[in-house]
Amino acid sequence: MNEKIDPEMTDDITVLRKRIAELESNEIKLKQMEEMIQASKERLKIQFRHTHIPTITWQRKGNDFIVADYNITMEDFTDGLIGNFLDKPASIIYEDRPDIQENLNTCFKEHYLIKQETPYRMFTRQTEKIIIFTFTYMPPDSVITHMEDITERKMAQQKLQTSEKQLHALSAQLINVEERQRKHISRELHDSIGQYLTAIKFSMETTYQHLIGKQDISKAVVLLETGVNLLKQTIDEVRRIMMDLRPSILDDLGILATISWFCRELQAVYSGMHVEQDIQLKEEDIPERLKIIIYRILQEALNNAAKHSSADHVCVSLKKVKNKIQLTIEDNGKGFDLKNVASNYDISVLEGLGLMSMRERAELTGGILRIRTKLGKGTSITASW
Ligand SMILES: Nc1ncnc2c1ncn2[C@@H]1O[C@H](COP(=O)(O)OP(=O)(O)OP(=O)(O)O)[C@@H](O)[C@H]1O
Ligand SMILES: [Mg+2]
Repeated sequence: MNEKIDPEMTDDITVLRKRIAELESNEIKLKQMEEMIQASKERLKIQFRHTHIPTITWQRKGNDFIVADYNITMEDFTDGLIGNFLDKPASIIYEDRPDIQENLNTCFKEHYLIKQETPYRMFTRQTEKIIIFTFTYMPPDSVITHMEDITERKMAQQKLQTSEKQLHALSAQLINVEERQRKHISRELHDSIGQYLTAIKFSMETTYQHLIGKQDISKAVVLLETGVNLLKQTIDEVRRIMMDLRPSILDDLGILATISWFCRELQAVYSGMHVEQDIQLKEEDIPERLKIIIYRILQEALNNAAKHSSADHVCVSLKKVKNKIQLTIEDNGKGFDLKNVASNYDISVLEGLGLMSMRERAELTGGILRIRTKLGKGTSITASW
């Protein structure tokens, strides 16, 4: 029987077929999208696992948070011990850090990013570090914390600040040294050259009076002789001051010759004190900038020994000890109370600053100065660079 198909039905079938085809294609698309989402989730997970900053994901549980995940860097950061803290609540892990718990809560409730720099005793190791915690809200129910270890950076900053302070202190000392030097020169000029010149002026004026009035020529001659003698002494004094300021022998013959010369000079004046020299360095072993410093320290220490110690033996040694240039001046005199001297320093007076300027000179040139002394047991000054 040849049944006739209703044309309307044919239309419905076509529509249905189309719909089925559409649904099938949608299902394929949906599958593809699911696969894409899955792939991107995997990618995110890999990224999370491999970020270079130690990271923990905290999941909200009741009023608390638990460790839901962490990355590889966090494992390294805790020597793998973070694994033991999986699913553990923040209230236990941060039991003694209510501030961190509070930041977790605030970040979760307010949905904003919080940064916190804090000293932190690691819960896995008992080492203290300085950490920047970053709390980031992660919908729907998590907070991610990054832990950036800035201990080394902080320590480097602190070192920098300390060395800046030292630099300031040293430049202040430098100004003091300069100022004292000026006072010293001014005192020398006033006390010696000034006195000589006044005497010379007086003898010249009196000679002039005698010559003008043709009173007593023989007196004028005697006065002139005195004047010439005074001039000679003035010239000697100028030489002495010049030698004291900067001995030309240092520039002409070097530090080793200067040390020998100075020891000989001192020996000539203080004959009761034997000065022994033990010089084991060559001229070229000593950097140019240290030569005048070595001379100044030697000068002060030997003068101190001569003036204060009543020693009959002083030993000056210059050698290398553990790759350091070391200058030692050691006397067998009466020694002194170092603490007492140090507490009586007064920068406004000129005397009593010798020990301090030795130390300043050594430290300003990158060295250190050690003073060993005991009442009745002598004194030893060691500068090393
Ligand atoms: N080798 C030493 N033996 C014994 N006492 C010493 C010795 N060196 C220093 N002193 C004591 O330490 C004090 C301080 O010494 P410092 O060199 O600072 O000052 P000063 O020699 O008195 O004066 P300045 O050096 O300023 O001319 C001295 O006054 C002295 O009492
Ligand atoms: Mg002195």
